[in-house]
Amino acid sequence: MASYETRVQPALDWLGVHHSQLVERLREYVRIPSVSAQPAHAPDVGRCAEWIAGRFRAAGLATEVHPTRGNPVVVARTPRVEGAPTFMVYGHYDVQPPEPFELWTTPPFDPQVRGDDLFGRGSSDNKGQHLAHLHAVEACLASGVGLPCNLVFLVEGEEEIGSGALHDFLPLHRRELACDAVVVSDNGIPDLRHPALTYALRGIAAMEVRVDGPSKDLHSGLFGGTVENPAMALCRLLARMRDEHGRILVPGFYDDVMPLSEYERAQLARLPATPSEYLALTGSPALFGEPGFTPEEQRTARPTFEINGLTSGYQGEGSKTIIPSWASAKLTLRLVANQDPGRVIAAVKAHLERCCPPTVRLSIQHGHGAVPYLTSPDGPMARAAMEALHEGFGHPGMLMREGGSIPIVSAFKEHLGADTLLLGMALPDDNAHSPNEKFNLRAYAAGMRMAVHLWPRLAAAARTSAA
Ligand code: BES
Ligand code: MN
Repeated sequence: MASYETRVQPALDWLGVHHSQLVERLREYVRIPSVSAQPAHAPDVGRCAEWIAGRFRAAGLATEVHPTRGNPVVVARTPRVEGAPTFMVYGHYDVQPPEPFELWTTPPFDPQVRGDDLFGRGSSDNKGQHLAHLHAVEACLASGVGLPCNLVFLVEGEEEIGSGALHDFLPLHRRELACDAVVVSDNGIPDLRHPALTYALRGIAAMEVRVDGPSKDLHSGLFGGTVENPAMALCRLLARMRDEHGRILVPGFYDDVMPLSEYERAQLARLPATPSEYLALTGSPALFGEPGFTPEEQRTARPTFEINGLTSGYQGEGSKTIIPSWASAKLTLRLVANQDPGRVIAAVKAHLERCCPPTVRLSIQHGHGAVPYLTSPDGPMARAAMEALHEGFGHPGMLMREGGSIPIVSAFKEHLGADTLLLGMALPDDNAHSPNEKFNLRAYAAGMRMAVHLWPRLAAAARTSAA
């Protein structure tokens, strides 16, 4: 049998020949402002689902746009190969809000190429990454290379708001979506010379905390000193949740946290991330964090407690001497294996209630949650993925964990019994969720090559693990 390299060469050539068209397609995709968090963009979100469905159909996939109680879910299948394994590719067509607009060099939904980068909201998170998979499949089909397996693409429109509709959709469609493994490219790698297989994601638990004091804003001169200031009460309350190194003070919080193995620590230490790079990437004056862990370990293998937003009192021009009537905070905790979002929320809630003084009324609202993900980094499919990374990027694959969350990944395990291979293409300076988000076009091209190399290897690995 011809080697993989010879067999897939026409597909790789196809990608080379069509590269500028494939960049134009990504620009077209990024031009659609599919912001799931903002109801005003609902029509754009719908249009975006139809756009990607159209691309799947043009590539030769049988494609359906499923309405849900939320945003549509797009399911596309490659032509059936009898007796071959089936893999799912997951991605999301929704994007984060682009604000603040004034910090963008070029408008978020008017994508521009500068140097090696295509700038625009959603370019790397996640449109460029799943479009790379689509194009790799298109290349295989159009060049006559074909596919040694069945692929089902699942592209949703609510990842950035917690994947609510897909969580309902998945158990209802478990038969159509049955697969041997899932491939997700919605994450990153340290740089182009260090492509990586990610085997862990953090989970998340979101909540909103509000304290109410006086029934209206009060004159701070007339009443200051007699009633508690809710903004101050909230600050004091939140300060009791975490110490100055980020260690969470909620009793029992670390009980379920799975420690890193020595093997993992050694693998993570091989990654090229250094403290000075973290300083440069973030623009922070100094690093911070739990003693005894490297930054890479802190951001991927340790839980955190973050204030995402803090609101109280007068925010307008000039000053206003009041005791605000209320204060609120949006909070998220990032969780690691084996923490459970429900248990964590209950423990945090109990601690907040214990610590809250009687001078304000506390109310807590629960938000979205995601179970952390951890899978074994060896095994035939992981090794197949490592080889594809090497071929696609021209450098050996590394192993890494990620600090971000992809809520649906644990649900794939639960409902489909399938493990997920995370094969990210984003770079640390791609500005995910920030102004000037971009996607590196070399990563785009390498990602497409990697995907071409992936399917024959993964299909062979699935056959060995089934045998
Ligand atoms: N693609 C990211 C998650 C990600 C980023 C994973 C980098 C690994 C590396 C995803 O789109 C995302 O932002 N998820 C949200 C989920 C949340 C809203 C429930 C996140 O992590 O904040
Ligand atoms: Mn995101």
